Amino acid sequence: MTRPLALVTGASSGIGEQIARSLARRGHDLVLVARRKGPMQTLAEQLAQQHGVRCHVLPQDLADADGVQQLAAALAAQGLQPEVLVNNAGLGHIGYHLDNQWADEQRMIDLNMRALTELTHALLPAMKRQGRGRILNVASTAAFQPGPGMAVYFASKAYVLSYSEALHHELAPHGIAVTALCPGPTQSEFVQVASKARRISLADKVPFASAASVADTAVDALMRNQAIVVPGLVNKLGVWSTRFTPRWLLRHIVARVFRPV
Ligand SMILES: NC(=O)c1ccc[n+]([C@@H]2O[C@H](COP(=O)([O-])OP(=O)(O)OC[C@H]3O[C@@H](n4cnc5c(N)ncnc54)[C@H](OP(=O)(O)O)[C@@H]3O)[C@@H](O)[C@H]2O)c1
Repeated sequence: MTRPLALVTGASSGIGEQIARSLARRGHDLVLVARRKGPMQTLAEQLAQQHGVRCHVLPQDLADADGVQQLAAALAAQGLQPEVLVNNAGLGHIGYHLDNQWADEQRMIDLNMRALTELTHALLPAMKRQGRGRILNVASTAAFQPGPGMAVYFASKAYVLSYSEALHHELAPHGIAVTALCPGPTQSEFVQVASKARRISLADKVPFASAASVADTAVDALMRNQAIVVPGLVNKLGVWSTRFTPRWLLRHIVARVFRPV
């Protein structure tokens, strides 16, 4: 029996690693993509042993200008044609745009938006030919409002949400499901990476969900082709409240929460 093949970016830690675990439990073979080979190889061996699935490890820096092209070439060379794509790799930087290094902002733009879009565009033709496919794009609750203190990150997630919702509609006639995952604060390496330069004032006071629970909620939503999934009641309420809160007030609230210290 052939198992469906799922490609997960950012599979070396956090939410991506847990999504890979969740998909393996449901009988998917995997292509694991991130920069660090070691953690992905360990994960691949565990998943093969626990669930009898095949895992391919393709280390790749997706923020590089030709990163997605290189990944596509590696997939073609190995004859791998994913029918599930999880665009999870992403990063944030805490700090005011004026103070952040352009090189850091550019890598975030390249990873969070360009690579996600380019990889989707590269894999879609094969999904269309097959008449089926599933795409899970990892946005954030940050997608629902502007983010003073993490301006480019919030804007990048608004892009992911809008892009995913549009594709959900466009690709439905081709049998391709598209889901935007919008997690709130989640246990992972994200905060450590984002706060290299600065910390935020309320970082220690916010409850963090487990990456495993976020991943299971996300994969469930992807399997039923839900357009947007926000894991957790508090996050759902937060997103819902943005509909009724004036934008000027939202900006002030987020600025307070994400004030770099
Ligand atoms: N944690 C949260 O609170 C939270 C909340 C909302 C949304 N999110 C989103 O969830 C997604 C996953 O983040 P996470 O929380 O799981 O953080 P994480 O533990 O830092 O995971 C990020 C993953 O992305 C990979 N990655 C980073 N730069 C890369 C690059 N240039 N090329 C390829 N892969 C790269 C990392 O692997 P390597 O370092 O090995 O490359 C890692 O596997 C992100 O899109 C993030 O924006 C997170």
